[in-house]
Amino acid sequence: MEIIRSVDWMKQASRAAQSAGRIVGFVPTMGALHEGHLSLVRAAKRQCSPVVVSIFVNPSQFGPGEDFEKYPRSFEADQAALEELGVEYIFAPAMEHIYPRGFATSVRVEGLSDKFEGKSRPGHFFGVATVVLKLLEIVRPQFAYFGRKDAQQARIIRQMAADLNLDCEIVVCPIVREPDGLAKSSRNVYLKNDERRAATGLFRSLDAVRKRIEAGEHAAAPLLEFIHRSIAAERLVTLDYAAIVDDDTFEPVHILRDNCLVLLAARVGATRLIDNLLVEQRDNRFVPSL
Ligand code: PAJ
Repeated sequence: MEIIRSVDWMKQASRAAQSAGRIVGFVPTMGALHEGHLSLVRAAKRQCSPVVVSIFVNPSQFGPGEDFEKYPRSFEADQAALEELGVEYIFAPAMEHIYPRGFATSVRVEGLSDKFEGKSRPGHFFGVATVVLKLLEIVRPQFAYFGRKDAQQARIIRQMAADLNLDCEIVVCPIVREPDGLAKSSRNVYLKNDERRAATGLFRSLDAVRKRIEAGEHAAAPLLEFIHRSIAAERLVTLDYAAIVDDDTFEPVHILRDNCLVLLAARVGATRLIDNLLVEQRDNRFVPSL
């Protein structure tokens, strides 16, 4: 495994691989890797060689007062985990290589970036789209892997890739969870003991919604009302939003149709967490998956 810090070297390495007829897979991350990230790496390894994993804590996607400074960083442990999975390249550029003095461009995916996470974190998705486009242009992978944990982010990247005719297939992978259901997240380390227990409330309420859908409840209002009530009962959890949306437009739906997402964002103490439930329509049945 090679650790590449320079943009030019990364370009050279991945263009050389492509000229040799190899299939480059790419997993962008901000490090502090957990099983969620590693599941994307495994998916990439199954389809591609070489696999490039980027580790870059991107300042432009953090708002003022957010956790950029204290965001967990664990390069050595990340390196060991990626080595073990047989990753060929870690791309860990320095800040000034990604945002040199005078950097002046912002990539904006209109509409999709303004709702839900974008509304709660203004400018967040402009920072995400800008850095992901830069990384995709440096690495030029045939496949890039994202987690459904950040469903809106994945949808925005897919839109950007289509709008800008990027020669890259965006692959969206399932959510990896802790044994008690909490979605794995680099931010889970911020949770104190009682908060960690309370955080499972997000999963529990989505899981209860899953069961209600399986039992035949297809109207959004009672499902959302249930989420509001069950989160309100968690002392340490404050709901930011709950919504049931079309997974393509992210517009709210009144009745389940096609493929939908049940989106949740909440604060547990000072930590903001998101989670979602995918509801797919198959053979005239709704199949929810967490
Ligand atoms: P980061 O939060 O490090 O996540 C990197 C990738 O891992 C994202 O695609 C995210 O959706 C995925 N991921 C995180 N937790 C997951 C889980 N529990 N199960 C499955 N996948 C999970 O997302 C970012 O970084 C950044 O915004 C980035 C795309 C790297 C741009 O800076």
